[in-house]
Amino acid sequence: MKVQLNFNAKSYSSSQLVLIAAYKKKDKDEVALTNWPTDFEQAFTLLKNSKNFKAKMGQNFYFSLTDGTTVCALGMGEKSKTSWENLRTAFANIYKASKNSYTDLSINLDSFVLKSNLDKTVYTINEALLLTSYTFDKYFSKKEKATLKTVTLDSKLPQSKLKKAAKALQDSTNVVESVNIARDYVNEPPNVLHSESYAKMVEKDAKAIKGVKVKVFGKPELKKEKMGMFLSVNAGSAYQPRMVQLTYTPSKVTKKTKHICFVGKGLTFDTGGYSLKPGGSMMNMKYDMAGSATVYGAFRAAALLGVDAKVTCLLGMTDNAINELATMPDSIVTARNGKTVEILNTDAEGRLVLGDVLSFASDLKPDCIIDAATLTGAVLVALGKEICGVMGNNQSLINNILKSTKNTDENAWQLPIIDAFRSDMKSQIADLKNIGGSRGGGTAKAAAFLENFVDPKVPWVHLDIAGCGDSQSHLAYCPPKGPSGSMIRSLVDFVSNGKI
Ligand code: BES
Ligand code: MN
Ligand code: ZN
Repeated sequence: MKVQLNFNAKSYSSSQLVLIAAYKKKDKDEVALTNWPTDFEQAFTLLKNSKNFKAKMGQNFYFSLTDGTTVCALGMGEKSKTSWENLRTAFANIYKASKNSYTDLSINLDSFVLKSNLDKTVYTINEALLLTSYTFDKYFSKKEKATLKTVTLDSKLPQSKLKKAAKALQDSTNVVESVNIARDYVNEPPNVLHSESYAKMVEKDAKAIKGVKVKVFGKPELKKEKMGMFLSVNAGSAYQPRMVQLTYTPSKVTKKTKHICFVGKGLTFDTGGYSLKPGGSMMNMKYDMAGSATVYGAFRAAALLGVDAKVTCLLGMTDNAINELATMPDSIVTARNGKTVEILNTDAEGRLVLGDVLSFASDLKPDCIIDAATLTGAVLVALGKEICGVMGNNQSLINNILKSTKNTDENAWQLPIIDAFRSDMKSQIADLKNIGGSRGGGTAKAAAFLENFVDPKVPWVHLDIAGCGDSQSHLAYCPPKGPSGSMIRSLVDFVSNGKI
C-alpha cells in the first residue's frame, strides 16, 4: 500500500481511498466538519443528515465521490478532547481495515491537525501506520501480501512548513523502523539468534549508521574484565558470550554534551539452568533478550536522529542453558566489582549478567545509566502486562523517564527499592545472594540486587519490561501476538529531550 499525506489538495481523483477527520460538536450530538475541501460539499449534507454517524471516536462513515473515489470520514470525537493516542488508534484501525482492499490511500491532513501542531500530526500518523504494518512473516512459506510500502508527503504547504513536516515524517520513520528491527530480533527463534549470531547482526546493522562505533567483547575479554557473574550464566552454554558496546558520538561535542548509557539484558534463551523452568514457563523465553533489543532500538533511533548527546549502548548476550559445566545452585561467584554472590537459583540469571555490565557502564562515568530487562515474572503480577516497572537510585532521573513515557503514551509505574529489600538480598555466606529469602516484591528486590553494581554517584534507572515487552493487545498499533517494542519510543523521547 502507498500512503500520501495531502495538504490543501484540490482533487483526490488519483487515489482509491481518502481519509478525512470528522469531529463531534462540543456537548452536542452533531458532527463538526472542519478543514474539509470544498468539493466534498455534497458529502457534508449526507453526513450531517446521517442518523447514526455522530463522529464518535472509532465511528467511521464511508461515501463515494462522483469520480468513484471512496472517502472514509474517521470519527475522532470532540476535537478539544482528541489525544495523540486517539490519532494513533484511529490510523491503526483504519490501516488494518483497508490494507487488503486498497493499494492507494490519501490522507487529508488539514482535517487531522491536532493542537495546531502539524509536525506532530504528521509524525504521529506515520508512526501509527508503520507500527501497525509490522509483520514477521519470514518463516511462513507464503508471505503476507499487503504491506505498507511508503508514506509520502504531497503537500501544498509553504516551503518553510514543508521542510519541518518532511523532517517529522523522516524522524518518525527512523524511530519506528528501529522499533520494528527490535521486534524482529525478539521474534527470531533461539536456534537462529544466539549470542554469537545476535552480536553479528547488531554489529552489521550499527556499523552502517553515521557516528556509531562498535566493539564486541568475547569470552577472553569478559574474563579480563573479571565478569564472574556474567560468565557463570554462560557456563552451560554451547555459544560464546558476547558483550556488544556501541558508541554514538554527535557531530559537535562540547563540555556540555551529555553522555547517556543504555544497558540491555540479552538472554537469547532462558531455560532457567539447573533451576530448570517447567515447560509451560519456558515457552517464549526467546523473548528474554527483549531488554537488549529495546535499548538497541532506542540507540539506533537516537543515532539516526542525530541527537545532541553521546550515547553508549551495552548489550549482555548469552543464553541460560545446561550442560555438565553449567553453574550449580549454591555456587559462589565474584562479580566484576569484587562483590561475592551466592547463586541460589540459576533462573535468576538476568541480574547476574546485568550486574557485571552495569559495573562496566559505571566505570565509563556517564551522566546516567538506563537499563532494560525482562527481569522478573513478578512485574506481571505487580503491574500487569500493560505497564513497565520503573526503579532506580535517582528520583529526578526517574521522573524524567516517567515524563517521557507520558509524552509518548506508554505506560510505566515506579516501584520503590526499600532497605528491607536490600537486606533480603544479603547472603549468610557471601556478600549477596541472587534471590530474596521472603516472598513477594520480586521486581524491586531484583532492582535492589542490581543497585549493588551501579556507582551510587551515577543516576540509574532500571526498566523491568518482562510484562510490557510482550504483545500489547489493547493497543491497535501493536501486534496481537509477539513482541511489542514498547519503551523504545519513550527512551528516544528521553534522549532527544536532553534532560537527565
Ligand atoms: N526471564 C525471567 C523473567 C521472565 C518471566 C520474563 C516471565 C518474562 C516472563 C527471569 O530470568 C526469571 O526467570 N526470573 C525469575 C526470578 C526468580 C527465580 C527469583 C522469575 O521471575 O521467576
Ligand atoms: Mn530466568
Ligand atoms: Zn531470564
